[in-house]
Amino acid sequence: MGVSRRFVDREEELRALDECFSARPCLAVVYGRRRAGKTRLVLEWLGRLGAPSVYYHAVPAGHEVNLSGLASSISQQMGLGVFERIRFETLDVLLETLASMKPDSIVVIDEFTYWVRGEPRVTGELQRFVDHTLPSTRMTLVLVGSLVGVMMGSVLGSGSPLYGRARLKMRVEPLKPWYVTLLHPRLGLEDAVRVYGLFGGIPYYHAMVEEGWGLREVLERLVVSPYTPLKDELIFLLRDEFQNPAPYYSILEALAAGKTRVSEISQYTGIPVQHLPRYLSTLEMLGFAERVVPLGSKRGWWRLRDPIARTWFRIVKPLQPLIEAGRVEEAVEKARELLERMMGEVFEEIAYEYVRWMASTGRLRYTRLGRWARRGTEIDMLAVDEEARTVHAFEVKWGVIDEREAERIARRLEAKLSETPYRDWEHKLHVITRRLEGEPPPGVKVHTLNDMPFKRP
Ligand SMILES: Nc1ncnc2c1ncn2[C@@H]1O[C@H](COP(=O)(O)OP(=O)(O)OP(=O)(O)O)[C@@H](O)[C@H]1O
Ligand SMILES: [Mg+2]
Repeated sequence: MGVSRRFVDREEELRALDECFSARPCLAVVYGRRRAGKTRLVLEWLGRLGAPSVYYHAVPAGHEVNLSGLASSISQQMGLGVFERIRFETLDVLLETLASMKPDSIVVIDEFTYWVRGEPRVTGELQRFVDHTLPSTRMTLVLVGSLVGVMMGSVLGSGSPLYGRARLKMRVEPLKPWYVTLLHPRLGLEDAVRVYGLFGGIPYYHAMVEEGWGLREVLERLVVSPYTPLKDELIFLLRDEFQNPAPYYSILEALAAGKTRVSEISQYTGIPVQHLPRYLSTLEMLGFAERVVPLGSKRGWWRLRDPIARTWFRIVKPLQPLIEAGRVEEAVEKARELLERMMGEVFEEIAYEYVRWMASTGRLRYTRLGRWARRGTEIDMLAVDEEARTVHAFEVKWGVIDEREAERIARRLEAKLSETPYRDWEHKLHVITRRLEGEPPPGVKVHTLNDMPFKRP
């Protein structure tokens, strides 16, 4: 650990921050799941900008502590010693003082949501500054926060004094799968994708993988080790966000166990059905869970979306007894099997990204994209082009397939399509698979990992 990895992607995010800066005065709000790479992004941006700036990392403490912390950052980073000597009582006065001395300052307050939680009045103070002083300066103010609930409620929400005032609101999402090859340039493509399966696009966990490790070492050191950093991670993430994480944890466990309908989740968790929508939509807002509504249906179901929650429930937790008994070899082997089983679901997510990428680069057109599920007929993915009356049907398979299997899949897809309202449209059949042995059969397009836009190290 500690090795600072090559910085990957985030081109759009950097551009958005640049635009905010060019249009200064500007207030930007950057938020997103813990560990998503917000701090690194902002520091990278400051580094590229090369202009003098203040970066303050707020702490989960009271107002005084954060005010004096920010003041001493200003003193040290901008060489304004006077900030060390004044005792500020509100954030607006502090920032006004800075604006009067350096009207073109760039100020980043990281973990602003901790500050808000410690002293909710801080948003009102900031609003006073943003309304009264900021417009007559050339300042750039960037607020960063990882408590998504606090950010969306107390900072960006309609009840917040800051509502509607940020010029840039940016949610930092996990990295796209295509970058995993850059994060692990020495792993082969397939194993790099497996590591993506374990950690998703969340750079923090990838950064723990040391140079030269193979998949085995990743599993041994980071997944089934008694000291696995994943052990308390989910609980930490939930505790950070919620005062009472218990119902949320139970719901995620239910989802991991394949309970996808509200009634099933209720039965599994003991939480009354009428309370579940609120919990589920909070989990959805935070990115932990997702509602899936297939095309051609109104009835949806819920699925687990967070990669760390998935790895925890599907791999780490079931292996705890083996791990605790010190049976490392067995645990590594089992972890491999469990991961391979989980990859089906991971690969389907990657396949959706791939199809979105194909559309964004003009390789395919659709007006609607989603699963098909009606009356017992299920199709992994349909990309429907309503204008051209063309439907692309996809089967997604992490396994390695040969020509004959591809042909069988294609025939099956064709049969399923005849049970949809698209039976008379033009049909294009696709198989997305890890690898194809042999030649692609006629009449079906086979896409493999090699066709996907993974970045070449
Ligand atoms: N774009 C990136 N490319 C490579 N590594 C990255 C990238 N973004 C973040 N990282 C690495 O991932 C780790 C976590 O990133 P960072 O600390 O920026 O996340 P964060 O969102 O600020 O997390 P927290 O919410 O815990 O504060 C760090 O080791 C960082 O170097
Ligand atoms: Mg951070």
